[in-house]
Amino acid sequence: MAEGDIKNGEKIYQKCRFCHILNQPANRMGPHLMQLQERKAGTIEGFQYSAAMKQAGENGLIWNDATLKEFLTAPKTMIPGTTMRFWGLWEGQIDDLLAYINAQAEAASKP
Ligand code: HEC
Repeated sequence: MAEGDIKNGEKIYQKCRFCHILNQPANRMGPHLMQLQERKAGTIEGFQYSAAMKQAGENGLIWNDATLKEFLTAPKTMIPGTTMRFWGLWEGQIDDLLAYINAQAEAASKP
């Protein structure tokens, strides 16, 4: 991924950070997003998910580039009943955002 994409992704992440922490296992209005890739939906301990999000995880929803794209484009279309109050991003923004989130996860996994 190009450097510019990650930089732009960091800007886009400002829309998420009010509710989500990316680098620490602490919840805000939303669950933390550490190690988000390959995580089963609705499984962070101590966070009060909606029944809809828990059900989506039980039905096998795993977060990865493809499922995050679908969710972040239109949260309530993918998971009707989710309590995430977010109107959605458009596709180019999501690519940059995922580049940033993935780079953060990579940095965190280095010693
Ligand atoms: C106004 C607060 C708010 C904003 C802004 C917000 N979220 Fe959320 N998010 C939530 C809440 C609340 C949930 C839990 C939803 C549920 O249980 O249905 C959630 C859930 C999620 C999940 C599922 C997590 C899991 O453990 O299954 C992901 C992924 C996510 N948000 C990503 C994002 C990203 C990326 C952004 C920015 C583009 C964002 N959110 C913006 C409040 C927010």
